[in-house]
Amino acid sequence: MAQMLIINGSPRIKGNTAILCKNLDEIFKKEDVESEIIVLNKLKINPCRACDSCIRTGDLKCVQKDDMNSLFPKLLNARVIILACPIYWFTVSGQMKLFLDRLYALHGKEGFALKNKTMAAILVYGDVDEMKSGAINAIRTLQDCFSYCSAKYKKIIHGSANNPGDVIKNIKLMEDVKKLGKDLIEKY
Ligand SMILES: Cc1cc2nc3c(=O)[nH]c(=O)nc-3n(C[C@H](O)[C@H](O)[C@H](O)COP(=O)(O)O)c2cc1C
Repeated sequence: MAQMLIINGSPRIKGNTAILCKNLDEIFKKEDVESEIIVLNKLKINPCRACDSCIRTGDLKCVQKDDMNSLFPKLLNARVIILACPIYWFTVSGQMKLFLDRLYALHGKEGFALKNKTMAAILVYGDVDEMKSGAINAIRTLQDCFSYCSAKYKKIIHGSANNPGDVIKNIKLMEDVKKLGKDLIEKY
């Protein structure tokens, strides 16, 4: 199973998030670091039903029979988890939010099972301003999420790009992804 797990929360196959994920994946692969991109939109991920079965059993499983079952072992085994996501309606996409809610099942007998992982995020938005775009809300959500996980590294990079492919013109964000990839390889 891959050491680096990149979770793509965009439905666009050739969108900006997909380009950034591919770049990151290539940086890892070039250095022989195992890496895998998970495209949430290709998976069936239901909303959390709040039945609390996972909390009662503490067995790090969800009673729902959907694709989260194949994701849990990958998340538990990964050394680094990178959440990559477009901004939709001033926060993370619906695909990403459903995924995040379902992490509830990882409250095990010894606490939250993703504790002490290395975590990072990449956000992309149509507006040029991180406040007006709502990226700020997603940044806050993910900062809280990473703190809750006692993540060792909490880097969140973000930038503007609207139409699919536009991100290659955002030199700063493309460079930030490169730096993030190298940092994650070197330090973690
Ligand atoms: C349903 C929807 C909602 C969006 N909401 C926002 C928003 O609130 N703020 C913003 O700056 N951009 C918004 N956008 C623009 C996307 O964030 C932007 O197009 C981004 O590049 C999409 O990334 P992707 O190509 O990886 O899917 C929205 C786009 C869609 C389709």
